[in-house]
Amino acid sequence: MATIELKDVFKSYGGVEVIHGVSLDIADHEFMVFVGPSGCGKSTLLRMVAGLETITDGRVLIGDRLVNSLEPRHRDIAMVFQDYALYPHMTVRENMAFGLRMRKAPDSEVEKRLAEAADILQISSLLDRKPGQLSGGQRQRVAMGRAIVRRPSAFLFDEPLSNLDAKLRVDMRTQIKRLHALLRTTTIYVTHDQVEAMTLADRITVLRNGHIEQVGTPFEVYERPANLFVAEFIGSPAMNMLKARYVAEGGKVEAVIKDDLRIKVPPHQIQSGTDVVLGIRPEHLEPSQFRAHGDSTTFTATTKILEPLGSDVMVLCDLAGMELTARLTPGRVSRAGECVDLVFDTANIHLFELQSGRRVEALAREPA
Ligand SMILES: Nc1ncnc2c1ncn2[C@@H]1O[C@H](COP(=O)(O)OP(=O)(O)OP(=O)(O)O)[C@@H](O)[C@H]1O
Ligand SMILES: [Mg+2]
Repeated sequence: MATIELKDVFKSYGGVEVIHGVSLDIADHEFMVFVGPSGCGKSTLLRMVAGLETITDGRVLIGDRLVNSLEPRHRDIAMVFQDYALYPHMTVRENMAFGLRMRKAPDSEVEKRLAEAADILQISSLLDRKPGQLSGGQRQRVAMGRAIVRRPSAFLFDEPLSNLDAKLRVDMRTQIKRLHALLRTTTIYVTHDQVEAMTLADRITVLRNGHIEQVGTPFEVYERPANLFVAEFIGSPAMNMLKARYVAEGGKVEAVIKDDLRIKVPPHQIQSGTDVVLGIRPEHLEPSQFRAHGDSTTFTATTKILEPLGSDVMVLCDLAGMELTARLTPGRVSRAGECVDLVFDTANIHLFELQSGRRVEALAREPA
């Protein structure tokens, strides 16, 4: 097991810089997820940790050892790729044992580790098959088995589930989570799927254009996104965003969206008159039980599209010409074109400075 540290890491390809100084500490046993849109540098970062890409500048340490110029095979890590990279002509058993045999591990040790990994991954009955005779999910498990038998100090996963169908992805996600609970091996896991990121991670690193936007627990990035980018990227469906002016005067604090659309908000650490973006997640728009007159948190919207998900229904609504998505319980609305009174849950409103995109914190409440 090992810590992994990136210190001011840069990467350029032929003079084009794609990673612009990333620093990150990953704790021993931690499950760290790199998430971000396509091309943001997730794989490049991971491959620099693995030793599959050179590091243009900065330092990478695995378990306190500077690995910048170490060959991948000397870094004591195991990598699992999206395409599994299994040897087609070898059986599952041979594929899994290959790395150990290369290291000249004794037969008895190879057999023992193989049996153990096969048992954990429930692939004991497949050991004599070749990859071509396996389903996608089974191949994926063999690729993980091959990583496990080596007992590396860290696992590096690059979108290992992206070739699987939706149901299998969810099953394998649970498998990976269980595996980590069992082995506790330090892990970096790359995905562009924010649900995978949220469900697997101890902490998430959100990347954009070769920069870190935020590092935090799934709860932190969801509840307190550091900026507009993270707020929009994490959460599905995405957070609703409304441009507004923050106005605190005459004892009232409001996000003024239009003259006739003023939403009451808690006081924030920002000057009155600043342009902001008000963010609210679909689950924090609640249908009102009764019409609260004069309460500037309830507004009438018109339903446009209903997407039933079983336990919830996603409702795209029109509010004074703006589109909002609300996550409602089924039965609250029945059809498009209906009027629905929505309450903005003010305790769960996010404000971002329009110009910088940065999160603005609410003022701490005075103790009662
Ligand atoms: N070998 C290469 N030569 C030149 N540019 C590259 C090379 N590999 C990656 N890049 C560039 O570096 C940037 C980061 O790529 P990277 O593969 O790390 O993105 P990613 O976040 O893994 O994306 P995806 O989700 O699509 O896999 C991209 O702009 C990409 O075009
Ligand atoms: Mg990638």
